[in-house]
Amino acid sequence: MERNVILIGYMGAGKTSVGQCLAQCLEKRLVDTDQLIEEKAGMEISRIFAELGEGEFRKLEVEVLNELMDQTETVVISTGGGLPLRPENREHLKRLGEVVYLQVRPETVLKRLQGDTTRPLLRCSCVEERVNQMILERGPIYEQAADQTVSTDGKTPKEIAEEIQQNMTVQDGKAGENK
Ligand code: S3P
Repeated sequence: MERNVILIGYMGAGKTSVGQCLAQCLEKRLVDTDQLIEEKAGMEISRIFAELGEGEFRKLEVEVLNELMDQTETVVISTGGGLPLRPENREHLKRLGEVVYLQVRPETVLKRLQGDTTRPLLRCSCVEERVNQMILERGPIYEQAADQTVSTDGKTPKEIAEEIQQNMTVQDGKAGENK
């Protein structure tokens, strides 16, 4: 694999677990933008939101993405669910490599994130409406940012990782034919 692979999608889509699987298959390192932000800020995401606010968190997202643009190692990148929302971030993602949108249904998110306390944006009494609304709003943005879309409902991380690699092979093949 010559290019970075970047996983985008809503919270609970499986970006981290698919990323781990994909990184293992491709023998690459997994880089997680949320983890980079936590290291940079010296605190967990939920504390960044509580003490500095979402605006500050979004600025940190831009910063870590800019830093990733400078790295030369080929890696698998798992991104925070809101990172592709800024148009300039979407441009950076495209330049970084193959952008894969992990699509997920609201029901799956609610099931997967039941009892989760690490996502500040889902800490509300109306979590079902929130998830439905956000997926509706963000879906087209994720689609627009992506080179390939893979639906994740009912699939294991390994199956999803394999599908991503197959799609990449097909695309690479087509690119070769046109040369
Ligand atoms: C967010 C998603 C989270 C994290 C933050 C905001 C979002 O990451 O970046 O809580 O706006 O969707 P995950 O998608 O890894 O849960």
